[in-house]
Amino acid sequence: MLETASALISPSLPTVWPRFEQPLRLGVMASGNGSNLEAIAHSIERGELHAQIGVVVYNNPGAGVVERAARLGLPAVLLNHRHYPSREALDHDIVQTLLAHNVDWVIMAGWMRCVTAVLIDAFANQVLNIHPSLLPSFPGLRAVEQALAAAVKVAGCTVHQVELAVDSGPVIMQAAVPVEPTDTPATLQARIQVQEHRIYPAAIALAAASHLSA
Ligand code: GRF
Repeated sequence: MLETASALISPSLPTVWPRFEQPLRLGVMASGNGSNLEAIAHSIERGELHAQIGVVVYNNPGAGVVERAARLGLPAVLLNHRHYPSREALDHDIVQTLLAHNVDWVIMAGWMRCVTAVLIDAFANQVLNIHPSLLPSFPGLRAVEQALAAAVKVAGCTVHQVELAVDSGPVIMQAAVPVEPTDTPATLQARIQVQEHRIYPAAIALAAASHLSA
């Protein structure tokens, strides 16, 4: 079974993944490249994360995630924030899209917009995010650059429940990544992403298993 969250700093992956009554229905929100989407999809394909990706919502036309979603055979819906008068109006349409695809877990994977209570309240405690730092250190933009500027020896990534303040909310899983003296933002980011791809599917399973047994 999954270990408890506190034992999962630089975690090993579960040897037995939880099964749910029905596969989890995930809605993935992405703004950019989509490598975490792909990692989650592959975990599902391998029979690890017991889930289905119901829809991918993206906000930037031409983002890399569009091509990945197409290759993975996943429906992708563009909701371009530039066409909305407010964050709440955008989130309203995101919620409607997620509900229309029977989503119950919202997975932010490189979603580069602040979200509002409209989204968070519609999926209470079931909105997750991944951030490329060991939160609460280095929230916000350019987290890897922030870590290098602070000359930390250990960087990493965090999967957490989403609350209103940016990059805040209960931590579900973290992985630590040692910083090398020669690291640039690109080299450190690349090693952090390897860990992101490992822990995000496991963190979704852990969050869902804890939620259902709570
Ligand atoms: C990741 O580094 C994640 O931590 C941050 O945005 C990046 C998304 O990468 N929130 P990708 O689009 O999944 O490749």
